[in-house]
Amino acid sequence: MTRKGRAAAGDGTPEQIHLTWGENPSAGVVVSWASPGPAIRPRVRIGQRVIPAELRQYTDGINGETVWAYHAPVGGLRPGATYAYTVTADNDSNAADPFSATFRTAPAGRKAFRFTSFGDLATPNTAWVLSYGQSAYAVDAVESFQPLFHLLNGDLCYADLNPTTQPEVWRDFGNNNQTSAANRPWMPCLGNHEVEFGNGPQGFTSYLSRYTLPDNDVPGFGGRWYSFRIGSVLFVSLDADDVVYQDAGAFVAGPAALTPAASTGNPPIEAGTSLYVRGYSGGAQTAWLQRTLAAGRGDPSVDWIIVQMHQCACSSSATGNGSDLGIRQQWLPLFDQYEVDLVLNGHDHDYERSFPVRGADTDVGHETATRAVVNTLRPHPVTTTDNGVFDTSTGTVHLILGCGGTDANLDDYGIDTADGSLFPWGRPPRTPQLFPGGSPPRTPPRQAKVFTRADRPALTSTPDVYARAAADAVEDAIWSARRDTSTGYGIAVFDVNPDPGDFPGQTSISVTQYHAVGADPVNPATGDKGAPTPDYTEFETFTLVRPRSS
Ligand SMILES: [Fe+2]
Repeated sequence: MTRKGRAAAGDGTPEQIHLTWGENPSAGVVVSWASPGPAIRPRVRIGQRVIPAELRQYTDGINGETVWAYHAPVGGLRPGATYAYTVTADNDSNAADPFSATFRTAPAGRKAFRFTSFGDLATPNTAWVLSYGQSAYAVDAVESFQPLFHLLNGDLCYADLNPTTQPEVWRDFGNNNQTSAANRPWMPCLGNHEVEFGNGPQGFTSYLSRYTLPDNDVPGFGGRWYSFRIGSVLFVSLDADDVVYQDAGAFVAGPAALTPAASTGNPPIEAGTSLYVRGYSGGAQTAWLQRTLAAGRGDPSVDWIIVQMHQCACSSSATGNGSDLGIRQQWLPLFDQYEVDLVLNGHDHDYERSFPVRGADTDVGHETATRAVVNTLRPHPVTTTDNGVFDTSTGTVHLILGCGGTDANLDDYGIDTADGSLFPWGRPPRTPQLFPGGSPPRTPPRQAKVFTRADRPALTSTPDVYARAAADAVEDAIWSARRDTSTGYGIAVFDVNPDPGDFPGQTSISVTQYHAVGADPVNPATGDKGAPTPDYTEFETFTLVRPRSS
C-alpha cells in the first residue's frame, strides 16, 4: 500500500470543487477547491479569462497533515447568465481534460428565484463517526431541484468527532458535495462541529481555509458571519457558536487524553477538555447584525430578510439539543425589531416549523431537575392557526432543517405528559360547547428543552470520563406548529415570488419540505430500521407573505 503522503506529493489535481457567491452574487462567484499536494499555477479558466487562485494552506493541529486549499474569485459577470469554467494546475493529473462545470449568476432586481436548504450533512463514508449514506442522496436532491444556490446550515461533516483524521473527513465531505456545489453556490454557516482542537482560536481553521465568503468588514472575524443580497432578499448568515450557552464543540470525553502527532508540537488534550467559544467576538457579531438588519429593513429594494444559523431558538427535539436561551436573549429582539421573516437552522436532525413568533412569554419555563420556574424567554406565537399562509411582517418563522444526511436521526419530539394543559397551543377555549361530544380532545402539550446555562464537562461516575449535560430547562412549546415524525431526512425548497400573484400588494415565498421516508437508521417513533433512499417526497407546503417594501 502506498503511503498517502508520498502519493500525494506534487499532485495538484483539483478536487472538492465548490462555489460560493462573491461580494455581488449577480456579478460573481468564488471557485474553491483543494488538491492532494501543492498545486503549481492553480487556476480557473472562464471564457478567454484565466484567473489565478490564491493558496490557503494549513496544517491540521491534531494529525499534522497539511491541506492545500485554493480560491479564485471570478467577477465582472452578467446577471442571470450561465457560464462554463474549468479548474486546473500545471500538475493536474487530468490536465488534458480538466474538471469543468457550469453555473448561473444571480438575477438583478426584483426577480423570482429558487433556493434550497438543510444542515448537518456529514459524508457518505460510514467509516467516519456520524457519517451515513443519505448524505450522497441529499446532494443529489439539491441537484434535482436545480436551485440558484443552496444554504448549508452548519455541522458540515463532523470532522471534530473523528479527531485524528479531520482532513480525511473534510475531503470526503468536499468530494461528495462537489456533485452539486461545483454547479451552484453552497453557502455555509458555522456549527458546533466546525469547532476543532488545534485549528485556530475558535477551532475554525479547517472551515475558513476551505470557504471564501462575503466580507463582513469586521477586522479579525472574516468568514465567520456574512450577508448577501439576491433579488429582494437579504440573506444573513450567523455563527451562533458566539452566543449559545450550550457547550458542543470539540471535546475529549476520556478516559484517555487526545494526543496530537508529535510533528504538530501540540501538547496532549486532557480528558474533560472542551473548546467553548461563547462570546468569542466580544459583541462584534451582534453589533454587526444590528447594523446589517437596520440597513436591510431601511432599504426599499429589500422585501425579505432570511437568517441562516446552526443552533436553534425554537426546537422541541426530545433526543437532540433543543432550544438555546443565548440566541433568544441576544438576537431574537433584533429579529423582532427588524422583522426578520425566516430563520433557517440545523443542529437537531429533524424537521420542525414554528408559527410566526414575536416577543416573549416570561417565567413559563421550568428547571428540569427541580421544577423551579426559569425564564426561558419563550418566543410568543402571533397566531396558532396553521392555515398554510403566514404574514411574516407580524412574526418570524423558524425552521429546523438538521435533516441533511448524518446517521443520527433525531426525529423524536418532546411531549409534556405531566403538564395539566389540555391543548398543544396553550389555554383551552372558554366555551366547551364548541365540542358537541362533550369534553375537548386531550392532547398533551409539546415540550421543548432549553439551555439556559453552560453545560461544561463534568466528571461522570466512570473514573476519568467526562460528559456534558443535556439542556437544563423545559417549556411548553406553544410556538411549535409542525414536526416530521416520519423521518429525520429532508430538504426545504424555497421559491421567492416577487410578483403579487394571489396576494395583491404583497410578495410571497412558497416553501415545500420534501422528506426521505424510510431513511432513518432507526425511526424513534416506530422502531423501524431503514436505509438510505434517493426518494424525496412532499411532506408539507406553506406560503410566507409580507407587504412589498417599495
Ligand atoms: Fe450541531
